[in-house]
Amino acid sequence: MTPAIPTTRRALLTAAAVTSLLPKTSVAKARNGRERLSLNEGWRFHAGDPEGLNGALDYDVRPEIKKSEDGKEADARPVDATQVSATRPVLKPWILPTANPFISDPNKRHVRPEGHPGARVSWVQSAFDDSHWKAVTLPHDWAIAGPFLETGPYGGMGRLKTWGPAWYRREVHVPASDKGRCLFLDIDGAMSYATVWCNERLVGGWPYGYNSFRLDLTPHLTYGGANHIVIRLDNPPESARWYPGAGLYRNVWLVKTDRVHVAHWGTQITTPRVSQNEATVDIVTRVDNDGTEAADITLVTRLYALDAKGKPSGRAISETPRQSVHVAAASSTVVKASVTVLQPRLWGPPPTQVPNRYVAVTSLMQGTREIDRYETPFGIRSLRFDADKGLFINDRFVPLQGVNNHHDLGALGAAFNVRAAERQLEMLMEMGCNALRMSHNPPAPELLDLCDRMGIVVLDEVFDCWEKRKTPLDFHLIFPDWHEADLRAMLRRDRNHPSIVIWSVGNEVGEQYSGEAGAQIARRLVTILREEDTTRPVTNAMNWAQADMPLPAEMDVISLNYQGAGIRSLPSKFPAFRAQFPNKIIFQSESSAAVSSRGEYQFPVPGTNSGPVRPGVGGDPKTRQVSAYELFAADFGSSPDRNWAAQDQNPYVAGEFVWTGWDYLGEPTPYYEARSSYFGIIDLAGFKKDRFWLYQARWRPDLPVAHLLPHWNWAKDTGNGREGEVTPVHLFTNGDEAELFVNGKSQGRIKKRPFEYRLRWDYVIYEPGEIRAVVYKDGKPWAQARRQTTGAARALTLEADRSVIDADGKDLSFVTLRIVDDKGETVPFAKETVTFTLEGPGEIVATDNGDPTDFTAFPSPTRKAFNGLALAIVRAKPGQKGLLSLRAQSEGLNSAHLAIAAH
Ligand code: GAL
Repeated sequence: MTPAIPTTRRALLTAAAVTSLLPKTSVAKARNGRERLSLNEGWRFHAGDPEGLNGALDYDVRPEIKKSEDGKEADARPVDATQVSATRPVLKPWILPTANPFISDPNKRHVRPEGHPGARVSWVQSAFDDSHWKAVTLPHDWAIAGPFLETGPYGGMGRLKTWGPAWYRREVHVPASDKGRCLFLDIDGAMSYATVWCNERLVGGWPYGYNSFRLDLTPHLTYGGANHIVIRLDNPPESARWYPGAGLYRNVWLVKTDRVHVAHWGTQITTPRVSQNEATVDIVTRVDNDGTEAADITLVTRLYALDAKGKPSGRAISETPRQSVHVAAASSTVVKASVTVLQPRLWGPPPTQVPNRYVAVTSLMQGTREIDRYETPFGIRSLRFDADKGLFINDRFVPLQGVNNHHDLGALGAAFNVRAAERQLEMLMEMGCNALRMSHNPPAPELLDLCDRMGIVVLDEVFDCWEKRKTPLDFHLIFPDWHEADLRAMLRRDRNHPSIVIWSVGNEVGEQYSGEAGAQIARRLVTILREEDTTRPVTNAMNWAQADMPLPAEMDVISLNYQGAGIRSLPSKFPAFRAQFPNKIIFQSESSAAVSSRGEYQFPVPGTNSGPVRPGVGGDPKTRQVSAYELFAADFGSSPDRNWAAQDQNPYVAGEFVWTGWDYLGEPTPYYEARSSYFGIIDLAGFKKDRFWLYQARWRPDLPVAHLLPHWNWAKDTGNGREGEVTPVHLFTNGDEAELFVNGKSQGRIKKRPFEYRLRWDYVIYEPGEIRAVVYKDGKPWAQARRQTTGAARALTLEADRSVIDADGKDLSFVTLRIVDDKGETVPFAKETVTFTLEGPGEIVATDNGDPTDFTAFPSPTRKAFNGLALAIVRAKPGQKGLLSLRAQSEGLNSAHLAIAAH
């Protein structure tokens, strides 16, 4: 836990916590060298530009949007970019040089023009009084509070206004003793088109909202006084096919180093030889000398094991020889070393392996003084890609049981929160998921840390488009100027994470359609990638490129979106890719794209095992809900069942990344009038849809799984009376045979046939009471499941995922509200309005219910339940320990109360 942070603004002006994996004593020692201080506190925020600015601080002019393209089909063919060139002053020439450290050809680096545009704008000026601006703490997503845009063409981006200029200001006190050191501003992600001033001097910026970047504040600072950092962001409209978020939505750091220091993302650790007995660890370190005199230093890197919580345990297990290094003034030196680790504890995904980690601690010494200490967490593991079988980690087969996720955290928006992300991963792992595709952009660095720690295999992806555009103002606008910097930035930041096993340079890019021209761009990206990392294969996710086209040939591994089993790509394209690329692994970078609304069962239920949503078949355009029988998919997708049949009929397929693990904001296919997606296996609030158990049954074959649907509340008094009507019953199980009973009467014992993944009794006649399934595997009893008609709604209950949280202003408790009957059973139709209140030193950050059509703003403490459930997200105030008392009330129902300890 970080130390308590004072809350008054003045007191916050010195930066907050030092983050280090090493014990406190070592941190104290390192203070003269490197410090990494959180700059998350003490910002002032304002949406909009000052009057009269008239675009003077825009990065560039943008093409006019003549017609909204909201709601276009996800797999629509991308189109050519609209070219515009600026006829008025813009900031692009001042921002482009920030990319220089990532541009390998010196002739292509940008020369910064003279001057500091913006210096005369009052909001940039140090004297500006921002006390009437909103006080905010980062990570901050200014768009998530809403209100929702209930009408208009905004479904794709989540019906929240994310676009338009937004400003952040903060004072930073820099002591006189920092004179002579280097001070960097590290921004883990700013959405988007960031421009940064320090003391009225334009320092630089970064347009792509998903990448992390560093700016050198050193020459602009006042030492021994106050400094003003001002950041302008300018998110475009129609810039994404999902909710991008808005603002300084990830962590921001102030990094202080000696003039001679390990460069930004300056280490690269690889493990070229790995066995149970010993491993070779290669360490490449770049040392920067930002001073005016040459330096002679010694460098040593020590390796420590990390425990499960990420703390170094014991003494160094290995260390490099001391190396003498000469670094000329204003230049860099690259130092290489190799060490052997005996009996290494390898990194690998559970349940068959353990995600052991190490940290490499690099010390730079000048004489006897340690001038830098730089920590690189890493893992020791080998990767092998076998075209016939798939992925091997440490020579053990790992089936890709993965999901795609976008970066938003539901009601919390894009503002990154470690606990919220950890909760997502925990639930996915409970389902048997072992892999995550970062669709379609670099994630928060802490998400990769979580994947390392929890043992989740990652496909790290950089772009959703190249030169051709998917939405009018997406990344294609800046691809020509920024692709190299953005790709290298992601690779350098992320390359030491053991969890990352494959890089992806694109998703369904328009260049699939442009033959050799598209392949040339791919070749360029692959060349850049190989200059940064040769230890992992590269791919791009293809929904259209055919096996004999030029683009797939450029990829090390073949990753297909829907082409194996999608409705539009029948017959399956797996065999054609296999024939064309017998030596490359093939996997599904996107599979299924099934859609459903939790607990919304619609009738009649078709007898087929997969189909698109049409009015009255799988979907209800009036309620904008999709049937929860889990048979329906986007037009180009397929049910999980149909997808698995295609996988199992082509056993060389290495696995899949399902579209998607969790529901996300935006892209509400098939009902763009809604706010959030229907694709998730888990809904936006974190409640499991029935599909959860379909995946769990396949991905955790040793766990007895049996899950029945629909619920059994179809009695007349519910208003949804189905007495006497056909009400199909489906069973999601990893048994192979089951008998269903309705009120004790057998409906038949049935067996799965080849390539069937659920058991279904399609002609059950509804009567209130109980349905029960007795499941067998290999003829022996395996599992049971039952559902009962409940009584009427009587009371509320509350249950916290964690009833003790840290009082640090970041940790969260996710509290599930249920509407229950007399016996405590959840009432599956219940949609009563509930009000949450909290007493004690904390707050209700947001509420949700997982209903894609609910336009109640997320911060609202009052919300309707959706099919029996609602969620409240609770946080303690920073530094204030105590008891938080959460109450839920709803007219006519017994209220509920829950205590959460903050410490
Ligand atoms: C794919 C696309 C994803 C998402 C998905 C579901 O075509 O790559 O980003 O849009 O469809 O609609």
